[in-house]
Amino acid sequence: MEVEGLSYPPSGEVRVRRLSEEDDLTPAFRLMMSLDYGVPEEAVTALFPSPSAVQARVKMGLVSVYVAEADGDGEPVGVAVVISTPQSYNRDQRVVALVGVRPGHRRRGVGTTLLRAVIEDSRREGVKKLVAQVPVQNKASAALFLKNDFRFESYLRDAYGMGRDSYVMALRLGGDGA
Ligand SMILES: CC(C)(COP(=O)(O)OP(=O)(O)OC[C@H]1O[C@@H](n2cnc3c(N)ncnc32)[C@H](O)[C@@H]1OP(=O)(O)O)[C@@H](O)C(=O)NCCC(=O)NCCS
Repeated sequence: MEVEGLSYPPSGEVRVRRLSEEDDLTPAFRLMMSLDYGVPEEAVTALFPSPSAVQARVKMGLVSVYVAEADGDGEPVGVAVVISTPQSYNRDQRVVALVGVRPGHRRRGVGTTLLRAVIEDSRREGVKKLVAQVPVQNKASAALFLKNDFRFESYLRDAYGMGRDSYVMALRLGGDGA
């Protein structure tokens, strides 16, 4: 975890920080839960039931939380959460579980800055592939990932219940990751 606490180059007035186990995750959690990802709320709460559950996973190295911060009220303007699933504990693959930006701060590169930080860290830490599940209706999400070099990899029918399909988008980071 050599990059914990590192600040990334600013995007305008925004800086991205990867939270350490010492950080208070509550503001990031609040933002995570306030956004609409185009998936059923239960899908989000099943993955992230509470700040303490997320904190425990950060401590175990199973989850990384990135926040985009601007000078202001101290609340993050953006958040990204990345999962190292148990199957990928060999470091080959991580899942970008969510990227979210406060409505008033969108289309200014915050999502891109968060995603770039995730990509940069993952590459440096030997990850070979990043994947993300994107609901087909969420055009902004697909566009964000496409703009950051992710490509459509597969299609999951009824991923979030009947008629709620999603794409799997992926970015290979080098090496021979499957
Ligand atoms: C998706 C989301 C994270 C994008 O954040 P953002 O900070 O606005 O993204 P950026 O400003 O970095 O945009 C990068 C590119 O993504 C695409 N994009 C972003 N929002 C878009 C939208 N509403 N419609 C179409 N394309 C969009 C554009 O190509 C954009 O580049 P451009 O502004 O130069 O045209 C934000 O809209 C959001 O939080 N949505 C709700 C949560 C969500 O659906 N998250 C999806 C991932 S889990």
